Amino acid sequence: MANASGFFTPSIPSLRRKIQPSIGVSRSGFSFSEGICRRVVCSSGIQGAEKNVSPSESRLPKLVSKGCKLIGCGSAVPTLSVSNDDLAKMVDTSDEWISVRTGIRNRRVISGKESLKYLATEAARKALEMADVDPNDLDLILMCTSTPEDLFGAAPQIQRELGCTASTLAYDITAACSGFVLGLISAACHIRGAGFQNILVIGADGLSRFVDWNDRGTCILFGDAAGAVVVQACDAEEDGLLSFDVHSDGEGGRHLGASIKDSNMDDVLGSNGSALEFPPKRSSYSCIHMNGKEVFRFAVRCVPQSIESALEKAGLTASNVDWLLLHQANQRIIDAVATRLEFPQEQVISNLANYGNTSAASIPLALDEAVRSGKVKPGHTIAAAGFGAGLTWGSAIIRWG
Ligand code: ACO
Repeated sequence: MANASGFFTPSIPSLRRKIQPSIGVSRSGFSFSEGICRRVVCSSGIQGAEKNVSPSESRLPKLVSKGCKLIGCGSAVPTLSVSNDDLAKMVDTSDEWISVRTGIRNRRVISGKESLKYLATEAARKALEMADVDPNDLDLILMCTSTPEDLFGAAPQIQRELGCTASTLAYDITAACSGFVLGLISAACHIRGAGFQNILVIGADGLSRFVDWNDRGTCILFGDAAGAVVVQACDAEEDGLLSFDVHSDGEGGRHLGASIKDSNMDDVLGSNGSALEFPPKRSSYSCIHMNGKEVFRFAVRCVPQSIESALEKAGLTASNVDWLLLHQANQRIIDAVATRLEFPQEQVISNLANYGNTSAASIPLALDEAVRSGKVKPGHTIAAAGFGAGLTWGSAIIRWG
């Protein structure tokens, strides 16, 4: 339910059950615990990034008192694996060209009865199991996706699949390959600003449905997957989201998109037509179009700046961080950012070779594999960054567990 200030707060019975006694929820939806206050700031805007001026300075800092920690993760990928050699049978390309230029060798593609909803629900169940959180104790599900199977959003369907009670809020966030990082930051804002206790953040995309499989410039890059994390309220000292930095630039959006495509009026009205532009045109989405070189340049320029900014806000340097975890778009982008930030190769998480670019899923998928393999351990710090269509990009310095 939304209160007078527009903030959502869980219903009274669920509040009583979920909010720990040390945390009070004020009428405005902000919560404070005595004596512990911290300021967080966020920033956006490509001009700010390029001039190295953080627009966060112009925003009102928010007083916060609670922390949030990442306590569970999960992922799911489709069964169908498509190799570079498979693609070479469809378009004029080769395993060598793709692996040298991108680092990708395989990708998974939704097929048969599989769906994005199914993958997202699987990833969510695994994350909830690791976190030992009952679906009924979720206050919020954020589904970060640009490819929902319903135009009106996917999150409520996942809420239903998980068997959550109606007191769980669920909605989508659309920010392409930055979606998961923005979802994580949004989860923290809900916890710090509105008293939420347990939040499921899912990153899931099925970009294979929007790929032109005749276009060798794009079809080699993308795959489908889902990943999820459970974010839980905790005391400020245990806070696991140390800082963040976020940006968007609609001007650069022309370099990467999958725009709405209207059919001709004639298709809808017949050849006799109508002077009035009614009924409206039928619409669908075009396949992904991309200026690869421009996106590459944008990523290697803006992502290191964003991570540096987030590190500075956290009072850290790259040498204090255990892992670099970037959106898995291209190994050359990952290597360039790591070099610029002076991250040793062995501290860079990459699973791009097996899955390609899975958009909003790539960071939680790679995180889940790294956690389950024992690479990322409780207490480790991770510099994570998403970037992509919009253009949007953002970084978060997080502590696992
Ligand atoms: N196989 C063989 N040759 C190819 C292929 C292919 N699959 N694709 C392009 N080529 C050819 C081109 O035709 C060109 O040939 P020419 O020199 O005869 O004209 C040559 O290879 C070089 O093409 P470029 O496009 O210049 O190749 P580039 O080195 O830039 O690599 C790539 C292309 C891999 C797409 C790269 O630009 C890239 O990774 N860009 C970033 C993409 C990215 O990160 N996207 C994020 C999307 S995230 C989201 O929000 C959805």
